[in-house]
Amino acid sequence: MAGLVLKDVRKSYGQVKVLHGIDLEIKQGEFVVFVGPSGCGKSTLLRMIAGLEDVTSGELSIDGQVVNDVPPSRRGIAMVFQSYALYPHMTVYDNMAFGMRIAGTDKAEIDRRVRAAGAMLQLGPYLDRLPKALSGGQRQRVAIGRAICRDPKVFLFDEPLSNLDAALRVATRLEIAKLNESMPDTTMIYVTHDQVEAMTLADRIVVLSAGRIEQVGPPLELYEHPANLFVAQFIGSPAMNILPARIVKAGAETVISLKDDSQVTLGIATPISEVGKSVSFGVRPEDLSIATNGQYLFEGTVSIVEALGEVTLLYVDGPVEQEPIVVKLPGIVQIRKGEKVGFVADPQKLHLFDEAGKSYIKI
Ligand SMILES: Nc1ncnc2c1ncn2[C@@H]1O[C@H](COP(=O)(O)OP(=O)(O)OP(=O)(O)O)[C@@H](O)[C@H]1O
Ligand SMILES: [Mg+2]
Repeated sequence: MAGLVLKDVRKSYGQVKVLHGIDLEIKQGEFVVFVGPSGCGKSTLLRMIAGLEDVTSGELSIDGQVVNDVPPSRRGIAMVFQSYALYPHMTVYDNMAFGMRIAGTDKAEIDRRVRAAGAMLQLGPYLDRLPKALSGGQRQRVAIGRAICRDPKVFLFDEPLSNLDAALRVATRLEIAKLNESMPDTTMIYVTHDQVEAMTLADRIVVLSAGRIEQVGPPLELYEHPANLFVAQFIGSPAMNILPARIVKAGAETVISLKDDSQVTLGIATPISEVGKSVSFGVRPEDLSIATNGQYLFEGTVSIVEALGEVTLLYVDGPVEQEPIVVKLPGIVQIRKGEKVGFVADPQKLHLFDEAGKSYIKI
């Protein structure tokens, strides 16, 4: 079982603590995506799994074996970086073969693996080219091919697509999804800043913030049931709108009062003892729609309209000054800047967080 287990894994650089105790189990064959703000420790964690960084304390196991002191070459891991790190003077074929030659793999086996990886990644026509004669996307595919040739038990990717332009990112993302399907027993851990990559590739997403895990779960679970304000605002784009509020009625349904004294009923249960407490009320831009019968969740003046074709984003001056509410409507909408519009949302799609930012459980 090439699963991974991290137990209270910590990392410090001198006095600076970077990871504060990571507990995580990853099953064999799982595709796990690490997300989090810049500097939160994603690459550090990945590099520790690869063996490129020491584990300061805690235990890291691969395949049931503690590998804290096992060198990278003996962990059965391959890593693909943002910068492809190809040898510029070697052909595509030789770049992919190099590691196996060093390891003393026999020539026929090297040839078989290079051609198989080349075919999988549609690199067949380019095997004799030097990296400089390839596009960015093709170079990244060579880097991935080189990793495949090593037949790793665990595949690590650190933002492999972030140097590619939008169209190539999509194409290469699909390649990675196919690769994952064709290697069902290979565990993959993938770091990205890209919401779409995280949501579409992951079996489970790990949300990190400042060296700690905020939540782990399948993409839609994180989207629908974020454990806290951080995850709520990190998963989803544009981010969830958050408004300060106060609980005025608790129970199976909760009623809150917003800053402008308007009241909102949510399909969220809160204990009676919460009445009077300050809370944060959350609603996703895509869960808001235009009110048609004069009843609305909030009303505001549209200050900016961004028509993207497939969707229209409205920035609305709502109940909280200086913080426009973002509304995402499907398609093209005939609304102009300066218009006053009322918006509604399904009470089941509203979110509520306590003062510490923890989510109230939805019923
Ligand atoms: N060799 C090092 N010495 C000291 N501090 C380091 C070292 N490497 C990383 N750090 C610090 O550790 C923290 C985590 O860095 P890391 O590269 O893991 O972040 P990241 O989540 O991958 O960020 P990004 O999204 O920008 O790639 C950062 O604050 C960084 O400055
Ligand atoms: Mg990084």
